[in-house]
Amino acid sequence: MVSTKTESEISLMSYAGKVCYELLELMETKVKAGITTKELDQIAEKFIREKGCTPSFLNYEGYPASICTSINEEVVHGIPSNRKLKNGDIISIDVGACYKGYHGDTARTYKVGNISNEVSELMKYTKEALYKGLSVIKPGIKLNEICKAVESVAKEHGYGVIRELTGHGIGTDMHEDPYIPNYSNNESELILKEGMTLAIEPMFSLKGRKVWLLDDDWTIITQDGSPAAHYEHTIVVTKDGYKILTGE
Ligand code: MF3
Ligand code: CO
Ligand code: CO
Repeated sequence: MVSTKTESEISLMSYAGKVCYELLELMETKVKAGITTKELDQIAEKFIREKGCTPSFLNYEGYPASICTSINEEVVHGIPSNRKLKNGDIISIDVGACYKGYHGDTARTYKVGNISNEVSELMKYTKEALYKGLSVIKPGIKLNEICKAVESVAKEHGYGVIRELTGHGIGTDMHEDPYIPNYSNNESELILKEGMTLAIEPMFSLKGRKVWLLDDDWTIITQDGSPAAHYEHTIVVTKDGYKILTGE
């Protein structure tokens, strides 16, 4: 069932979303060669709690940390560890905060020092795909319009669209209906309505779209080892468009 949220629910989600946005801004200043992903996780957990929220990811289906830190060929759900970032890495940081029972969820890919032009473009165009997906959102459109818009950017640049993971509805649960694939499909028939809250999150790889799950049962990596990027915003469908709840 796809729900619509009331104004007061949306204001709780927009606080949770704002905390998530500020956290990704803070991460921007912390991502540097030498820092460990566990240190990033500790900074994030402290920040989320200081803002009166709880980390949405911690203990979610047994997930052991407050953020996901996915490096290079890791697509999503990388678990923070003692691994140090190094020059030339990219890292996708996905964060979630829960305020009075309502979640925000947002992600970005950061570069560490100098990266190649092709990887820099992968980041740029994955972000562009997120905004292109958002740009079509308004009441009355079919969900698949978002899927198609996101996919079109991957197609244009020859990137792999990860199919095993999708965007989603969000609210009192981090993952609610509907699921939102990043490729055109004939199941995304839902007609959007004002008050729906959605997380849109393209995940693209430089080459192949196939992924594997690591033995830690969380980390998703590309099978061909090519780097992957991930950008995500939580939004609400408004009367004539959408509003981003996770900043910018
Ligand atoms: N934030 C992820 C998403 O965008 C889900 C993370 S689940 C976790 O949907 F358990 F790994 F944290
Ligand atoms: Co997320
Ligand atoms: Co999400």
